[in-house]
Amino acid sequence: MALLTHGGQLAQIAKQFGIEQSQWLDLSTGIAPYHYPIGDIPLSAYQQLPQINDELISAAANYYGHESLANTNGSQAVIKLLPSLWRDKSPHSTIVYLPKNGYKEHQQAWQQAQFTIRLYDDELPPLARLNEYCVLVIINPNNPTAKLFTKQEILIYQQHIASLNGLLVVDEAFMDIITPSQSMISSIDDSNTIILRSFGKFFGLAGIRVGFVLANRHWIAALTDSLGPWQVNGPAQFIAAQALSDNAWHTNQRKRLSQDTHAMVEMLQSTLNKNTLHRITHTDLFITIHLNQSQLAPQLFESLCQHAIYVRLCDDKKSLRFGITTAKQRTILGQVLTLIG
Ligand SMILES: Cc1ncc(COP(=O)(O)O)c(C=O)c1O
Repeated sequence: MALLTHGGQLAQIAKQFGIEQSQWLDLSTGIAPYHYPIGDIPLSAYQQLPQINDELISAAANYYGHESLANTNGSQAVIKLLPSLWRDKSPHSTIVYLPKNGYKEHQQAWQQAQFTIRLYDDELPPLARLNEYCVLVIINPNNPTAKLFTKQEILIYQQHIASLNGLLVVDEAFMDIITPSQSMISSIDDSNTIILRSFGKFFGLAGIRVGFVLANRHWIAALTDSLGPWQVNGPAQFIAAQALSDNAWHTNQRKRLSQDTHAMVEMLQSTLNKNTLHRITHTDLFITIHLNQSQLAPQLFESLCQHAIYVRLCDDKKSLRFGITTAKQRTILGQVLTLIG
């Protein structure tokens, strides 16, 4: 299967538009514009094989509020692995429900494992439609739509899926900035529920490839066994342990992301053409603008690229997703949007 298009493919876009990479404002991902500061990393983190790091596991257990977890090479590693693991555990399972607009690596992974794909729109599929052994994947909040389900809503699905001997996967890649949290982590002990958490987005360090999976102990044992040793390199483990323990930094990061998001939504509302803007949806890690005619999003994407601003043209081709800007970046974006009308 072909590689999917994602944000963050700046080198390719820069080449396509003939503008040097250093000239671009890259807003194509949902990665925070402020990163956790990286201090001195002990040489031993580079020299030794990365064993399971007690300090990191305990920092993660505190941060996520749950002890049964595994540290992975991004949540992507688990997304790829889950379909085959589930197939081994539940050979009668054939159907998976996935969001129509959402991070497409999920769909591709289940497709590759020969599952039948059923896509749902903004709302979860009706409970009565779910069948025995089915899999339900929820991205909460969803990327790029920003749709957020409450924990109460998901609990109802969890219960029903348990009665069907199915599997619930909740991808909480962007949950760190949701307050009050709607995370399902505290309700996963007795069920086939898998929670995926991304480290790179909220902490602004996607390049070090750290993620976590949380589930009951049987699932964690099976996943750890399949992933094999040395999932996450030593320096990345060291940085993640520090970042996850730094509560003051978490509070400040949430505050500035929320302020920047509000300012950016206001700027977009006042700058974008009211006749073409259908609506704006957002979390504090990305903003998605939905346009009311299908050709408008690709046109705006193209115009922004011509001015060295790279955003994500969503797969539906009717919307564009913007990463959150710092104040300086917001000024540049506002000027370009005003210029191109
Ligand atoms: C919803 C969602 N889940 C998972 C991922 C994978 O992230 P990572 O492997 O960096 O944890 C992404 C990346 O963009 C995403 O948007």
